[in-house]
Amino acid sequence: VIKLNEGDPDFETPQHVRSALFEAVEAGHTHYVDSMGDPELRAALAADLLRRTGVSYAPEQVLITHGGSGGLAATILATVDPGDRVVLPEPTYSLYADLVALAGGQPAFCRLRSDDFHLDLDAIERVARGAKLLVICNPSNPTGAVYRRDELENLANLAERHDLLVLSDEAYDHIVYDNFKFVSMLDLPALRDRLIYCQTFSKVLAMTGWRIGYLAAPQAVIEAAARMHRTLVGSLNAAVQRAALVAVSTPTDWPERMRQEYQHRRDLVIEMLDGVDGINVLPPEGTFYAFVGSTSGVTSARLTALALKHGVAVRSGAEFGPSGEGYIRLAFSTETSQLKEGLSRLRDMFTSLTK
Ligand SMILES: Cc1ncc(COP(=O)(O)O)c(C=O)c1O
Repeated sequence: VIKLNEGDPDFETPQHVRSALFEAVEAGHTHYVDSMGDPELRAALAADLLRRTGVSYAPEQVLITHGGSGGLAATILATVDPGDRVVLPEPTYSLYADLVALAGGQPAFCRLRSDDFHLDLDAIERVARGAKLLVICNPSNPTGAVYRRDELENLANLAERHDLLVLSDEAYDHIVYDNFKFVSMLDLPALRDRLIYCQTFSKVLAMTGWRIGYLAAPQAVIEAAARMHRTLVGSLNAAVQRAALVAVSTPTDWPERMRQEYQHRRDLVIEMLDGVDGINVLPPEGTFYAFVGSTSGVTSARLTALALKHGVAVRSGAEFGPSGEGYIRLAFSTETSQLKEGLSRLRDMFTSLTK
């Protein structure tokens, strides 16, 4: 079976980061550390945010987390009380709705635009009244959409009008195609007091197995998220945090090199699937995912099962929200020859459904 189901870069973590881990262990970073995270790493991340985005956070407003997943869990469990509604423009990353359910809250799903998977502000407005939090994934897993500045500005105004907290998950901020300019929610001053920024080392430096990410947010939210995170997982791996410090302080072209490779693969996906009988696909503007629909009215569950029969593992589109029904999500973080074979099998599967 060819695995196109998992968003795990097929690249190695850069050598200097791997070496830094061994050095950290040898230097004795083998004990508990501050449960908010290694103080030097928090300071370095605050400095990095300032350098990259011009936005100033104190190191105390940065929380090191168990991957992006830990940051998402800590934020949602800390801010959502039982019965609270959480706005989820969908299809979107499936973990958000699961965590909202875990917190006893209610996902308030609203559709993205069906023609391009961009934000439908009217649809968001309709469910925003009385909600507590809005979660946005930009660039979007699973759709590959990258939201434009004007959409994000309208979203920020909406959040202000409805007094919503905004959790912005920007795990794929470095993977955008065709010279598209990524706009971070950090770039929108209107959100300053209501934004929780969630980031991870997983994708940017091919560090999925290291399990490290971080949050930056207003002090009160960070303190609440820190309590929740400490309760869930306690203190994080000390040596990994030292290696992350080296990762964030050492200039590297690794993310850009990976992005260029993903751009080739994105082009290959579109070359092999677009225009094929039975397939409905848009060129992803970012991320390493393609959201592929069937024009034959077949459910996501059936498509996923059929894909497996054809020797390809993918994720069911319906996992990402009600509007994902009829789609599958494939990851092109897989090496090219495998990807080509997987796409060819999927093409056969979709065409067979039209007969
Ligand atoms: C949008 C998004 N956010 C967060 C994560 C979690 O990443 P991790 O916990 O590996 O940092 C993922 C992983 O696929 C993701 O796609």
